Amino acid sequence: MNLTVPPVVPSFARTVRAARRLCVVAMVAAYPLHLQEAAAQQPAAASAKVYGEVCAACHATGVANAPKLGDRAAWAPLIKEGQAVLTAHAWVGVRGMPAKGGRPDLSLEAFSGAVAHMARAAGGDWKEPDAAMLGRIRAEETKRVAALKAKK
Ligand code: HEC
Repeated sequence: MNLTVPPVVPSFARTVRAARRLCVVAMVAAYPLHLQEAAAQQPAAASAKVYGEVCAACHATGVANAPKLGDRAAWAPLIKEGQAVLTAHAWVGVRGMPAKGGRPDLSLEAFSGAVAHMARAAGGDWKEPDAAMLGRIRAEETKRVAALKAKK
């Protein structure tokens, strides 16, 4: 009598085990992503801190014509551009404004929070960016980079 199990049985079992492992891996990978999204909306105090540590160097006194914190006249036309567009343009860099405020290690979350902080200081009703807003900023960033490339 032949007692060897048909090869399809163990291979099927292996496939099931592999699929199960993949599911676990996917769940573990997706979990922190979800947490990151929740964390994307940083508290206003954190944005004020980023402003103080990075942006204030120029935006407190208006170095090279940087729009000053709380200067409503300077900020009014910028606020009108809208949060996604203005944040993306500043993030990419514009004239005297260095990309990422000159801090390549700064996250978009931290940077865009600091922009919102400055907009609020000039009377704008800008919220800390949530995941949806960060997505819009990323889309504007892509457009801006493409437009700048086309100009060259
Ligand atoms: C080294 C100086 C410097 C630092 C640091 C700096 N900025 Fe600026 N920023 C400027 C200057 C100069 C301008 C004005 C650019 C222009 O319109 O010619 C500007 C303009 C801007 C604008 C308006 C952009 C536009 O489209 O006109 C935003 C928003 C902004 N900065 C955000 C920030 C944030 C947020 C930080 C900190 C994370 C920061 N900046 C750090 C110099 C700086």
